[in-house]
This record gives sequence, structure tokens and C-alpha cells, in this order.
Amino acid sequence: MQIYILTLFPQMFQSPLSAGIFKRAADRKLAEINIRNTRDYTHDKHHTADDYPYGGGAGMVLKPEPIFEAVEAAKSEIPQKQGVDGVPIILLTPQGRLFSQQIALELSQYSHLILICGHYEGVDERVREHLVTDEISIGDYVLSGGELAAMVVAEAVLRLIPGVLGSEASAADDSHATGLLEYPQYTRPPVYRSWAVPEVLLSGNHAQVAKWHREQAITRTLKRRSELLEKTNLSSSDRQIIDRWQQSQ
Ligand code: 6GU
Repeated sequence: MQIYILTLFPQMFQSPLSAGIFKRAADRKLAEINIRNTRDYTHDKHHTADDYPYGGGAGMVLKPEPIFEAVEAAKSEIPQKQGVDGVPIILLTPQGRLFSQQIALELSQYSHLILICGHYEGVDERVREHLVTDEISIGDYVLSGGELAAMVVAEAVLRLIPGVLGSEASAADDSHATGLLEYPQYTRPPVYRSWAVPEVLLSGNHAQVAKWHREQAITRTLKRRSELLEKTNLSSSDRQIIDRWQQSQ
């Protein structure tokens, strides 16, 4: 997968890309992240990337020309044989659709993504109307720019690409991947400051352990994020777990 990230702050990406999952994906040749400075696509002497809003108002607005040209330059590097839907051109903005594991999964199916880091103050509306194919927000809070949001999206997508994670199984069990929060985990020592690991996990009884994991995932989701259960596929034994927990409250 090739991800292009268009930003006025390319330095923000240096250390995140040089460690962890981004580095692993690049080292294994499974993904490449291309950071492009939109300022390189300006043509005036001062390399102007933003300007005052027509009609007045606070703050600056990102000019359309450098963004269009940076996207066109990225697209020209992408082979034509892309899927029917072409290459997603995604604007990171608090006005976008709310990012989720489902959207990460959807984006992980593409061979190329173009992410445009917006600015909280604004982006010329013609970018929205005539260039981007999608707009994404990472949550209902304010960031000054889309840079950190682009990293969030890129990481959530990359880790779904086969071979990027250490263990193939680990992505499937994650919180949200199953529609449930993850069960509690323990490692050695078996007793720490008098706090013991639950007996069943030391039993070696795989069926019992699997049952405990499922119960814990379900009750934890009920307590913390009960709305998630409405979207989750539950078996009849899962429903029994819920009924029992609700009766115990
Ligand atoms: Cl994608 N951009 C900005 N500027 N703020 C945000 C956001 C994005 N998602 C949540 N807040």
C-alpha cells in the first residue's frame, strides 16, 4: 500500500514514521508513506499556502491551487490500473465522517490512499467540492491541523495489512475488531503485591479459558460501552452471559 500525506508540516511525521508499525511496514516493503509538503506546489516568491477568507472572519484559509497540484502530482505517480473506485482522496477535517474500525477496514482494501491534512481554520471549499472523495474526522474535539489525525488513520489502516503486525491473529482479537472491548490480560508473576491472576487462566483448560475471555469481553463492553453491543453478533450463550450479568446488578 502507498499512502501519500499532503501537509504543510512534514517535520511532524519524521519520528512517528521512523519507529514502530510504520517502520516495520516500510522495512517489510508492505507499505510506503510518502510525505509531500504542499508548500512545494506554490508558485509565488513567498510560497503562500494560505490566505485571508473572503467575506472576512478569523484565521486563514488553505489556498486551493497547491492542494490540487499536490494531489495531481501524487496521482500521476499511481499506476492507472486501480480499482473501480479509483484512489480515495481524503481530507482530514473535524467536519468529516467519524473514523472507526469499519472505515479503517474499508480503506485497507485500497492499494493507494491520498490524505490531505486540513487546517482547523479552514480549507477553500473548492477542495471539498471538486477534489476530495471523502472527509474524515477522528473524534469530536479540536486539533489545529489534520497531521495527527492522518497518522491515526494511517496507523489504523496499516496494521490491518497482512504481514504488518507481528502475529496475524492479534488484529482479529483487538478491541473493536470483534465489536467487543478486549478481555483483561495478565502475565507473570502469578501473584504481584498479593494480587493474584484469575485462577482459570493458570488452569491450562483451553475451553474454560476461552469461555472466561468471552464473558469478560462481553461484561466489560456492557459496563463501559454498552452501545457497542447493539452492532455485535452475539450467540445464544453470549445472550445468557448478558442476562446473568444484568440479573446480578
Ligand atoms: Cl481530522 N482535523 C482537525 N483539525 N481536528 C480534528 C480532526 C481532524 N478530527 C478531530 N478533530
